[in-house]
Amino acid sequence: MSNIKACIFDLDGVIVDTAVYHFKAWKRLADELGINFTEHDNERLKGVSRVRSLEIILELGDVTKTEAEQQELATRKNAWYVEMINRMTPAEILPGAKEFLEACRAAGIKTALGSASKNSDTILAKINMAHLFDAIVDGNHVSKAKPDPEVFLKGAEALGVTPAECVVFEDAIAGVDAAINGGMKVVGIGSPDVLNKADLVVSGLDKMSLEKLDKL
Ligand code: G6P
Ligand code: MG
Repeated sequence: MSNIKACIFDLDGVIVDTAVYHFKAWKRLADELGINFTEHDNERLKGVSRVRSLEIILELGDVTKTEAEQQELATRKNAWYVEMINRMTPAEILPGAKEFLEACRAAGIKTALGSASKNSDTILAKINMAHLFDAIVDGNHVSKAKPDPEVFLKGAEALGVTPAECVVFEDAIAGVDAAINGGMKVVGIGSPDVLNKADLVVSGLDKMSLEKLDKL
């Protein structure tokens, strides 16, 4: 019998694919700044905070901005992003995500969200999944970004379980590292080549099951 008492889920790339909206909004900003920004570059922003994402884009274009200008740019990007996520529907939930959370809860396993996003409340409301999480920890509650384990440790604390009793689900390398740094097991969502430090890698939550969880 496994000792797993809780599952902590990243949001972007695990529950929903918002990367495409982040990309569109960052691309619009990069275009305005005359910076060449591709979908390939966008991979580097996954799991990374908003502020750090902007820094990466400015670095790509060799562009320097003051702190105040950076604040304004990040706010502008977020307004475009929020406009897009406000139009999201439950149809955008990634395959198997809802079903796996429901299966966990039915088996008595606690669930938490552990995301870097400050927009998680909006997204969870739009896709109608907020009620499936016993605790929600996101970018509004943490001061240290992944790979720091803060977001996941706060999730475990909110659920009243120890890190060793948690499994994290993550699509980003920084997130897999954060889980490991927090002393938790981690299931990578994506490619085993990229997420090679995870205990198990599946292509999506539709390929996950309580049996696989039990074997971790
Ligand atoms: C997630 C995404 C990142 C995003 C970050 C902050 O980790 O994978 O691409 O930059 O959240 O999102 P926010 O909604 O606060 O801008
Ligand atoms: Mg993610």
